[in-house]
Amino acid sequence: MTAPALKNDRYLRALLKQPVDRTPVWMMRQAGRYLPEYKEVRAEAGDFMSLCRNTELACEVTLQPLRRFDLDAAILFSDILTIPDAMGLGLYFEAGEGPKFKNPVRDMAAIKNLSVPDMEDELGYVMDAVRMIRRELQGEVPLIGFSGSPWTLATYMVEGGSTKNFSKVKQLMFAEPEAMHHLLNVLADSVTQYLNAQIAAGAQSVMIFDTWGGVLSPRDYKEFSLAYMEKIVQGLTREADGRKVPVTLFTKNGGQWLEAMAASGADALGVDWTTDLSDARARVGGQVALQGNMDPSVLYASPERIEQEVQTILESFGHGNGHVFNLGHGIHPEVNPEHAKAFIDAIHKHSPIYHK
Ligand code: CP3
Repeated sequence: MTAPALKNDRYLRALLKQPVDRTPVWMMRQAGRYLPEYKEVRAEAGDFMSLCRNTELACEVTLQPLRRFDLDAAILFSDILTIPDAMGLGLYFEAGEGPKFKNPVRDMAAIKNLSVPDMEDELGYVMDAVRMIRRELQGEVPLIGFSGSPWTLATYMVEGGSTKNFSKVKQLMFAEPEAMHHLLNVLADSVTQYLNAQIAAGAQSVMIFDTWGGVLSPRDYKEFSLAYMEKIVQGLTREADGRKVPVTLFTKNGGQWLEAMAASGADALGVDWTTDLSDARARVGGQVALQGNMDPSVLYASPERIEQEVQTILESFGHGNGHVFNLGHGIHPEVNPEHAKAFIDAIHKHSPIYHK
């Protein structure tokens, strides 16, 4: 099958620092609970994993934000915890408590039992969703595939769910570093194959979410998180349909490590709001594109205040190529969708002058 030509390639071009007519925008967690139409489909599907496993419904919720807003990219509806689930850890969600695993891994014996899941078997439902979404998008905008970083996946796998102090995963890391490295290696191989399978299925760009890299010391970040993301970047398919497949790395709270991240071979870095975009650009803008970085909480403010903040961020990046507008982290579930619209409209209105 030949895919229809891409009608809007601003997002892919900006990631490669090529010229665009206006700054492209998408929102982390753009499909989700702040949308009433998502809540309806979610209720129909039952639990969250059933929604991820239902190809038609996963496709539907991926497209929902694109019907409401003029976004420059779609992101696959799935979750970073699909890999550990496919490894047999038994992912489930308890109301109001976030993700949990029935079988966490806490020692070398459990870690040695893990193997790379089959991408078209245990994880075939993810690839089916990618194929269907790509077909349904009909070339309107590119599709982003994604994965968690090995370190971030390991935090959930060892803790057995979300955590505030990371005590169990850090215990493993400091008391049994060999076991930790063994785990991170299986995860890096899994993530590489997972992202390559998504690219083969039709993802036109991929992003690695390192939500918890920022809880590490600078040395530990390099040894336990960045080194494995770098290994993944080196193993990725970088071209599909005759176009480059850009890779974005995002370490939440990783602003102090942008130089090291830029040296990983990634095309772009996600930046959260704790780093000033002009500083980030001065430091690494010669090497990589930047994605970000409005505090998602600004969407609680009035549409006028949101527009002001968008202008401040556009000015902070300044003129020229290599900026993808986004929130600095996922959109909050309490946000009024009209405010998300004000955010996107403000980028459309104010960004063209930065590209003249
Ligand atoms: O961006 C998108 O719209 C695509 C879908 C997407 C989801 N999760 C859907 C989801 C993406 C890219 C993710 C990534 C993800 N998942 C991350 C990394 C990004 C980040 O926010 O830092 C992490 C750490 C997770 C793990 C996870 N999944 C948590 C902590 C939770 C529960 C908390 C929450 O936000 O609800 C999930 C569940 C989840 N993943 C939901 C959605 C829409 C909510 C499930 C529901 O409908 O109840």
